[in-house]
Amino acid sequence: MPIDTNEIARIIEPSLEAMGYRLVRVVLTGTQRPTLQVMAERRDEAAMTVDDCAGISRSISALLDVADPIAGAYLLEVSSPGIDRPLVRPEDYDRFAGFEARIDLVAPLDGRKRFRGRLLGRAEQHVRLVGETGEVRLPLAAIARLLGEIARRDLDNIRMFADDARLLLDCLKPASIGRVFILFPDPWPKQRHHKRRLVAPATLDRLASVMQPGAELRLATDDRLYLAWMLEHLTGHPDFLWTARTPADWRERTPDWPATRYEEKARAAGRTPAFLRFIRRAS
Ligand SMILES: C[S@@+](CC[C@H](N)C(=O)[O-])C[C@H]1O[C@@H](n2cnc3c(N)ncnc32)[C@H](O)[C@@H]1O
Repeated sequence: MPIDTNEIARIIEPSLEAMGYRLVRVVLTGTQRPTLQVMAERRDEAAMTVDDCAGISRSISALLDVADPIAGAYLLEVSSPGIDRPLVRPEDYDRFAGFEARIDLVAPLDGRKRFRGRLLGRAEQHVRLVGETGEVRLPLAAIARLLGEIARRDLDNIRMFADDARLLLDCLKPASIGRVFILFPDPWPKQRHHKRRLVAPATLDRLASVMQPGAELRLATDDRLYLAWMLEHLTGHPDFLWTARTPADWRERTPDWPATRYEEKARAAGRTPAFLRFIRRAS
């Protein structure tokens, strides 16, 4: 079983936070005798000392002894972020003003997605960067949080497609996908916009062809009318089977189904999400 560094981060992060540190990254290298590298920094932004690292190391060792996510012996290395530290929070663009940085955008700006230069901090909803061609202002919203998170956790099993997901469906091999999530897609409430809805007969046909028999399609929405639409189109589709037996099955997520930012916003606004699971039938 591969060791899940996200799981390790979940185990250690609350205690690091409580001790006054911020977890920057968890990386596991090597297989025979793996090395667990934990990068952390002080929340008060003071420099990390050897004592800080020793204290963190003791606490992490104790937590991991109990939770035991790594079978067998491993080496633990606690370090503070160096020159190549990932920029993971909006405040980081101010904190590291003056440093050289590389920033990736989700969508091109003037034909480019990758920018390199000296950080000048934030200005309203932008990050200022001076590169070879002068100053650029990169919209914070376009700097993918996901990219920061991928760097923070050093993940190499994620691919992003920053365009209409339906285009991607056309390029996937038949029966190649084991699980699909469509989480809180835009409901397009006006009747004349219904054709823009992601859950639609044409998308479901394409999904059915790329999903393996037995694969799961998971959907979430907080929009009552879109929920009714999803149920109507999916229960009427010959390739999908709804798995719910009791109301708890659509009212609650299972632990292997993480909450999204939109779900948190919906709940904070008093809306109740529904979670639907469908199985791709064997044809
Ligand atoms: C309400 S947000 C939910 C975002 C996120 N899934 C969450 O739960 O926090 C809806 C998202 O669906 C994306 N979206 C809508 N139609 C799409 C499509 N055809 N292909 C890819 N993304 C789409 C929008 O860009 C938007 O980010």
